[in-house]
Amino acid sequence: MRHLIDPTDLTVEETERIVALAEDIIADRAKYSEACKGKKLATLFYEPSTRTRLSFTSAMLELGGQVIGFSDANSSSVSKGETVADTVRVIRCFADIIAMRHFKEGAPLVASQYAGIPVINAGDGSHAHPTQTLTDLLTIKREKGRFDHLTIGFCGDLKFGRTVHSLIKALARYEGIEVILISPEELRLPDYMLREMQSASKLAFREVRTMEEVMPELDVLYMTRVQKERFLDEEEFDRVKNSFVLDPGKLAAAREDMIVLHPLPRVNEITREVDNDPRAAYFRQVENGKFVRMALILTLLRWADENRPFERTPVFGEEYLVNEQVCPNRRCISSTEDVDQLFRRHADGTCRCAYCEAKAR
Ligand code: NCD
Repeated sequence: MRHLIDPTDLTVEETERIVALAEDIIADRAKYSEACKGKKLATLFYEPSTRTRLSFTSAMLELGGQVIGFSDANSSSVSKGETVADTVRVIRCFADIIAMRHFKEGAPLVASQYAGIPVINAGDGSHAHPTQTLTDLLTIKREKGRFDHLTIGFCGDLKFGRTVHSLIKALARYEGIEVILISPEELRLPDYMLREMQSASKLAFREVRTMEEVMPELDVLYMTRVQKERFLDEEEFDRVKNSFVLDPGKLAAAREDMIVLHPLPRVNEITREVDNDPRAAYFRQVENGKFVRMALILTLLRWADENRPFERTPVFGEEYLVNEQVCPNRRCISSTEDVDQLFRRHADGTCRCAYCEAKAR
C-alpha cells in the first residue's frame, strides 16, 4: 500500500507524473469529473485548517467522489482518548483514502501503519506537509517552467514552517538548486534539515539575515508566517513576530520574473499592496493546490487498486532500530501514544526518529 507521508515517498519521476496529471486535469476538467465515482475520502483534521481541508474536499468532489470526516478533534472520539491507530482502523471501514492533519509529528505515519488504505499527510506538527509541496511544485512548473537551476529564498519561520522543510527536501533532488535561508537566529531551520542539506550533494545553500541583501538573485521568494501556535514561550514569539515583512519597496529590487509564493494564511509578512504585483503568485498557488490534490488522490487510489508496492530507492541506509532509543521531541506522536520507538540510521551517522526526524538521545 502506497501512502504520502513525506515528499520523498514519491520518486522524482512519480512526483513529476502527478504534476503532469494535474496539468492535464487543468486542461480538461470534464474528463476527470467521474474518475473517483463511488470512492470516499476521509478528512481527519486534528488541527485548524481552511485551505488544505477544503482543497482536499473540493478535489474529491470534482473527481465525482464523496467526502466524510471531521475538522475538529474535539468532536471526534479523540476527546475520549482514542489513539490514531484505533481511529484509522475504524475509518478504513468507511472510506477508501484518508487525508490526515495532526498537531503531533509522525501521526500520519502511525496512521499509515494501521489504515490498510492510502494515507496522505496533510501536515503533521512542524514536521512535514507534502501536499503543500506538490502545490508549490505545480506552481513553480506553471510559473517558471522548470524545477532545476533555480535560486529560492525561504523567508520567515524556517524552524516551525513545515511547508519549507518539505519543499526543500523535494527540490534537493534537482540539479542547480540554490537555497537561501532568510530567518532570525531563533527561527533557523531545524538541525536535522541542516544536516540533510549538508549531505545533499546537489544542493547549494547559505543563511542570511535580511531579504534585501539577496532579493536581486532570487527566482522564487517563498514567504512564511511565524507559526504562533508552535511557540512554547510567548515572549519569544513577540520578539520575532515582525521579523520580515515584504512590501513594494523591497520587491522593487527583485527581478521582473521572480515569483512570490506563500502557503497562506498570511498575517502581516506580505503587505496588501504586494497583492497587485504580477509577481505575487500566492493566490494562483492556492488554486493549483486543488488540482494537484485531485491528481494525487487519483494516483494513490489507482496504485491501491493495483496493489502497487513501494518502489523508492532508499536515499539513506534504511535499517530501522526498534525500541532501542527514545525520541526526545515532545511534539512527536511517540511521546503520547503507545507506538514502537522507531529509528532510522542516516548516512551522516545520526540515528533519527522515523516519526519526526529528531536525533535520538
Ligand atoms: C500552512 C500549514 O498549515 O503548514 N498552511 C497551509 O497548509 N496552506 C502554512 C501555515 O499554516 O502557515
